Amino acid sequence: GQIEKGGYDHFMLKEIFEQPECLTNCMRGRINVEANHVTLSALIDYRLQLLKAKRIVIVACGTSWHAGLIGKQLIESFCRIPCEVEYASEFRYRNPVVTSDDVVIAISQSGETADTLAAIQLAKEKGAFIYGICNAIGSSIPRATDTGTYIHVGPEIGVASTKAFTGQVTVLTMFALALADAKGTINRDEYLKVVKELNRVPEIIKEVLKSNEKVRDLARTFTYAHNFLYLGRGYSYPVALEGALKLKEISYIHAEGYPAAEMKHGPIALIDSDMPVVVIATHNAMYEKVLSNIQEIKARQGRVIALVSKGDNTISRIADEVIELPDVLECLEPLVATIPLQLLAYHVAVCKGKNVDQPRNLAKSVTVE
Ligand code: AGP
Repeated sequence: GQIEKGGYDHFMLKEIFEQPECLTNCMRGRINVEANHVTLSALIDYRLQLLKAKRIVIVACGTSWHAGLIGKQLIESFCRIPCEVEYASEFRYRNPVVTSDDVVIAISQSGETADTLAAIQLAKEKGAFIYGICNAIGSSIPRATDTGTYIHVGPEIGVASTKAFTGQVTVLTMFALALADAKGTINRDEYLKVVKELNRVPEIIKEVLKSNEKVRDLARTFTYAHNFLYLGRGYSYPVALEGALKLKEISYIHAEGYPAAEMKHGPIALIDSDMPVVVIATHNAMYEKVLSNIQEIKARQGRVIALVSKGDNTISRIADEVIELPDVLECLEPLVATIPLQLLAYHVAVCKGKNVDQPRNLAKSVTVE
């Protein structure tokens, strides 16, 4: 009941608000603030197995797969190891090329997802070394892996995953940093800068959570919609996918996430005055390109909800609604930009009177194929 929800109306809202604390727990004992250093016990105990990876393959489903897409960018950019991200359900049924030169990373909140477990078994038979990123302690997936890292965000009750996603991304960030440090593929200053800022992420998320009321108010305006488009580039593209999945799951509004630049190759045809488009348009290397995407949407009367960097007054003049985000390093932006999208999905679903914690047709862990 009410006590378990800690005074919040739903577990999902509680879990969204818990994120600063959860990520602090996730980093505890792993980031040494004085030394500005990341250590994961998996990387100490299985250093050779992880260091010799010629390729990394990430297997997961749903939200965990979205975390994997962010992991791929972190691993490739910091560690310079080729990395692929696969839906576990596809991977297990297509006789994939996997060898003992590969490290397979399995990501799962519940640790019980049947497809992910089967993908691990297959990769094991082919000789890969398996590293797990899970939340539920002692569940089937951690037991099936060679080593791993728990995200330690506490039990997640809401069917729509929120704090597990940010926990997974936090572990992937620490993993990529620690592996890159061990391999010598990351520049010292860059490493220190990212570690320092990662440590500040819980504080930054606290700041972002202050936009809750603003997001609630704007959610009311958009409950009419039957479709939503979510756009982002680079590290923000998986965030767009995740934002769209959250909305679909709990409000039953059809939503699609796209890399912003792909819009012109098809989805732009959908844009009219009924179409809300959520655009992650913070200050980064792609800012000008995303700005021009927003202009294209407005030229077709689309309704733009933009996530912008604090103080941006260019996009605020064009977009219908803006949500400001504090500045953060580009590689850490998913951890910050995902928060208002969780809140948006939550408030739209509440406005529509939907069962937020237990949406129809969905189970918390999918233990069947
Ligand atoms: C997330 O909101 C979903 N309910 C779902 O996509 C989930 O992430 C997926 O089923 C994977 O679950 P797991 O992380 O427990 O393996």
